[in-house]
Amino acid sequence: MTFLEFKDLVSKDLDLRLDAYKPNRVKRRIFSLMRRYQVEDLDDCYQRLQEDPSFKESFLQHFTINTSEFFRNPTSFNFSETILLPRIFSENKKVKIWSAACSNGSEPYSVAILIKEMGIAPDRNEILATDIDHFVLEAARKGVYNSQALLRVEDKIEKKYFKPAGEDRFKLDDKIKKQVRFDHQDLLKEKFASGWNLIICRNFFIYLTREGKDRLTERFTRALVPRGALFLGNTEFIFEPSIFGLKKINGSFYEKSS
Ligand SMILES: C[S@@+](CC[C@H](N)C(=O)[O-])C[C@H]1O[C@@H](n2cnc3c(N)ncnc32)[C@H](O)[C@@H]1O
Repeated sequence: MTFLEFKDLVSKDLDLRLDAYKPNRVKRRIFSLMRRYQVEDLDDCYQRLQEDPSFKESFLQHFTINTSEFFRNPTSFNFSETILLPRIFSENKKVKIWSAACSNGSEPYSVAILIKEMGIAPDRNEILATDIDHFVLEAARKGVYNSQALLRVEDKIEKKYFKPAGEDRFKLDDKIKKQVRFDHQDLLKEKFASGWNLIICRNFFIYLTREGKDRLTERFTRALVPRGALFLGNTEFIFEPSIFGLKKINGSFYEKSS
């Protein structure tokens, strides 16, 4: 079968929106998985997906690159801590934050740590974190990390919020863990809740086609409250934010017009 036929069949069978991801990336990842499992061609691959649950699981996982770490891109977290969050908390009694495509949880937990460090009462914010990958969600709920994930964590923050838990393992403080609720969600096909003051979606747009990004930007904007902010990855930009009713406020931060 051709690659297009394979993609269509698999999209239907696995209920994945493969069309929204950049085609070359989808191709590269499928072929690298096939090499790893010594699967000969696409027909073979399709058959394995039908018959072998562990291959299917690897296939799904192979799509999702889960790289993440605490305070990834520190300048952006610094802007959040010193400018954005103080403004949002000064204007709202209760603040709703959503980390979409949160991976292993280091991103939403970084925000929870910032808020704690700002001296904001825990009941003034709600943090939801979602991802398509069940495995990373399970790891996120456990809140145990290796030193690689903590590379950008300042020593005083590490001492305060992490406890050594075996060789190269560090356990996050329970009070921070309690501040984040994790849920499974496919951003490309499921409905969004609304009323968010801040939506963080970082290092996910890079995998999408232009149409996929535009569609997601439109849906995120609808889910934000007026003056709510969208926080993207450092290499991700919205070329014409005004089309979506957004304006750029700093680096990869955009604000919904009021
Ligand atoms: C590179 S990680 C980004 C993690 C984190 N936001 C950061 O910047 O450190 C991309 C995440 O997107 C998730 N993902 C991929 N496709 C998704 C989809 N359709 N819906 C929700 N999450 C998805 C992956 O499972 C992965 O955890």
